[in-house]
Amino acid sequence: MNHIDPVYKLSEGLYSSLKKAVKGILSDKETRSLIKAIVIDILQEHGVADVKSLARQNETIFGIDFGSVSSRVAYVDDAGEIVITKNFNGSSSTPSVVYFVDDVRAVVGYDARVKSVLEPERTVSLVKRALADDSAYEGASKFYHGLNPTKISTYIFKKLIVEARDMLHHPELATRAVLTCPACFGTKERERLREACEGAGIKVLAVINEPTATAMSYGIKADDEKTVLVYDLGGASFHVSVVRASEGFISVIAAGGDRHIGGIDWDISLSEYLIERYNKKKDSLYKLDRDVRLKNAMLILAEKVKKQLTFKPRTSMVVSPFLWGGEDDPVRMVVTREIFEGMTEHLLDETIKKTHEILADSREKGVGRIDEVLLAGGSAFMPQVKARIDRELNCEARLEYPDECVARGAAIYAMQWCNYNPPSE
Ligand SMILES: Nc1ncnc2c1ncn2[C@@H]1O[C@H](COP(=O)(O)OP(=O)(O)OP(=O)(O)O)[C@@H](O)[C@H]1O
Ligand SMILES: [Mg+2]
Repeated sequence: MNHIDPVYKLSEGLYSSLKKAVKGILSDKETRSLIKAIVIDILQEHGVADVKSLARQNETIFGIDFGSVSSRVAYVDDAGEIVITKNFNGSSSTPSVVYFVDDVRAVVGYDARVKSVLEPERTVSLVKRALADDSAYEGASKFYHGLNPTKISTYIFKKLIVEARDMLHHPELATRAVLTCPACFGTKERERLREACEGAGIKVLAVINEPTATAMSYGIKADDEKTVLVYDLGGASFHVSVVRASEGFISVIAAGGDRHIGGIDWDISLSEYLIERYNKKKDSLYKLDRDVRLKNAMLILAEKVKKQLTFKPRTSMVVSPFLWGGEDDPVRMVVTREIFEGMTEHLLDETIKKTHEILADSREKGVGRIDEVLLAGGSAFMPQVKARIDRELNCEARLEYPDECVARGAAIYAMQWCNYNPPSE
């Protein structure tokens, strides 16, 4: 990472001589990493002084976006490119869900989410939200089986880190991370997050604001003299912030939103609509809020349908009571994007209202103009979001890796941290 070290110089020398020889066998990136690993091994074998510090050059510092609904891990590789790590399912996001097999053993991620359908009482979701909730920490009402939200979050961090490390040539050198959190998190919540991650054996260098990470991911630099609006519609929360990059700092000057609006509310609306249609067709009386298995199964189905409607104007699905352990016949249905947008418009309205509020707030704080509008959060993929923001704010909002930008920004921050703090041991 620090490009003036001897390992780098030696590796680059070897790289230029070997590049031709391995052409067509290894990619440039693979060649670089391989040579670097060999150089470090040779230096280590010959007892070159300060090997520990040289090895540090091969360190990977993770940027971790621990989300309410899903989490991601990124890092900047030797070639300066941002890599979003893949988990053992081959996916770049891991559901932030924990299923307890017993009081100690837990399953995390996609499998836990599937388990939540039939065994909801053993499953914990939205633990990030609980990090900001004091009552979840107190007395007998401890969040889950005597475990507080920090301890449960550690299970998620462990899984993220084990699977992210698995992608590295030097997993043993990935011991530090930069975390992110909403701008509205106070010191206590940030400390809980740090503790959760350190419980998984990773030292936390910094906990930075999610809108700052987003701005960095969109290429905003600390001395750009720019003011941007970050609209982040995630899985279970909505945050809108005004971020200023000036004189070497990127700072949040106004932040708002609603901790209880997110993609899941779009899923709930769609689930209710699908169940109503099912009841009409089959003359049945299923109700989402009366049966948690039914609700969880429908939420998984609705989320799939919602994502399909991001890419096409209509889609079909089968609503089958088999999904939640019922026995009635399945029914095939078609839903259009137009219907979906109509049934969820009130949710989007709410985010727009909060956006105008924060703009007014920032004007009061002396912000003259907004240079750019940046969209973040997986829910920003829904086409109605950008269309509405562009119309309301009379802008051309940027939509680039909205689901990954927080983790990407954290990885960029980690790299910069490393460049400013060269290894000293
Ligand atoms: N292609 C898509 N179309 C529509 N929605 C999507 C798409 N991809 C992801 N989402 C939604 O994005 C949400 C997850 O976004 P994200 O990972 O940013 O949330 P999070 O960071 O976990 O939540 P939060 O920011 O509230 O803590 C889910 O509701 C998911 O359904
Ligand atoms: Mg998020």
